[in-house]
Amino acid sequence: MSLANNKDTSPLKSKDFGENFVWGVSTAAYQIEGSHNKNGKSASIWDIFSSKKGNIYQDQNGTIACDFYKKYKEDILLMKSMNITNFRFSISWTRVLPNGVGEVNKEGIAFYNNVIDFCLECNITPWVTIYHWDLPQILEDKGGWANREILEWFSEFATVCATNFGDRVKNWMVLNEPMVFTGAGYFLGVHAPGKKGLKHFLPAVHHAVLCQAKGGRILRKLVPNANIGTTFSCSQITPRSSKKKDIIAAKKADAMLNRLFLEPSLGMGYPTEDVSVLEKIEKYFKPEDKEDSVFEFDFIGVQNYTREIVKHSHFVPYLKAKIVKATKRKVKITQMDWEVYPPSISKMLTKFDAYSGVKNIIVTENGAAFNDVMVNGEINDEDRTAYLHDYIKEVKKAKEQGVNVNGYFVWTFTDNFEWAEGYFPRFGLVHVDFSTQKRTMKKSGHWYAKLIEL
Ligand code: NOJ
Repeated sequence: MSLANNKDTSPLKSKDFGENFVWGVSTAAYQIEGSHNKNGKSASIWDIFSSKKGNIYQDQNGTIACDFYKKYKEDILLMKSMNITNFRFSISWTRVLPNGVGEVNKEGIAFYNNVIDFCLECNITPWVTIYHWDLPQILEDKGGWANREILEWFSEFATVCATNFGDRVKNWMVLNEPMVFTGAGYFLGVHAPGKKGLKHFLPAVHHAVLCQAKGGRILRKLVPNANIGTTFSCSQITPRSSKKKDIIAAKKADAMLNRLFLEPSLGMGYPTEDVSVLEKIEKYFKPEDKEDSVFEFDFIGVQNYTREIVKHSHFVPYLKAKIVKATKRKVKITQMDWEVYPPSISKMLTKFDAYSGVKNIIVTENGAAFNDVMVNGEINDEDRTAYLHDYIKEVKKAKEQGVNVNGYFVWTFTDNFEWAEGYFPRFGLVHVDFSTQKRTMKKSGHWYAKLIEL
């Protein structure tokens, strides 16, 4: 096991994180559920995007995924057997509201009620993400996140979630990684809905910022004793050199990748001083929007996997900044071509903790995809185990240095549908044979179970 980036060589023990520290696993509806058109569910943007040739690795899709819709009991029991006491999952919008708004699908609600009740029966606390990227296609046809009406659509969805599940679910996350679903989905076009350019991206960003706060307010009003958060993707950003232009490029990348969605929620507005193109968001602004972007979250979810090295590039419009790919840097990488760099997580925790408005931090995702090989029915995934070990050690280091971090969730429980990369990257603690749906706990799963054992 590599301890390369850790000076602290003492064994990792969960009890060193304190009694109230929560340990769990994270998932998302489209990546695991399957049953994409069963019992009243309609199409989301991911159903449509992945049905089009060329969008996803080997034209794969989430129509079956891990079949969690049918196998939820088996999976939750497996979690229980692994000492997992916190399970993060998301609600599929089109399962509960097939028309995006309006009539509620009773069978969709029943499914999540069953999942929640079974978790509670197994002493597993549910952590629910309201929106993990699967917008109803019917709403995308009207402009999706780029249409300001999303504020009403999303409010309705959040209200349905809060009123139906809020009696038993107390831990909530409003949005999952808004930078990724707006950036990849509405600027680069590599994720659903496949839109490109600033005219989609900027309104989508602004509306996501408003929905993030609005969702928080809805939960606060409707769910007694709720613990309300939202999650952010983030990466430590390092300039490639000490040249001024690389430092400026790194600052811009940091503003886009790490600050864009957090700062408006804290009342700080958009980081326009570093990224001037964000001034164009003004066009979509109503007078009350600055205030309406603010919400006092009980916690923020930090999702960190890697760091990025950034250099100046004249050819990149607006940002003039470019990521130096990890594959070109001769560093250890995962199947996602992301650098394995454990100190990134402690740096990001420290950075977010420094905002006075951030009250509490939960690592709502961290994990790694590696090429798992099954030998005699076993998967000895040392790379993943070492990755988790080294990153969790960095979380511990941050906590010891005073960062208010109080939870850690592995991405992810079972191997699943990794968006545009399909089923190729395997992130799970549990291996899935997608032709038989057989689950096999990997070595890392056994290791995590032992780590978090009470
Ligand atoms: C971010 C996303 O929230 C999740 O859906 C994704 O699978 C993981 N990170 C890994 O890329």
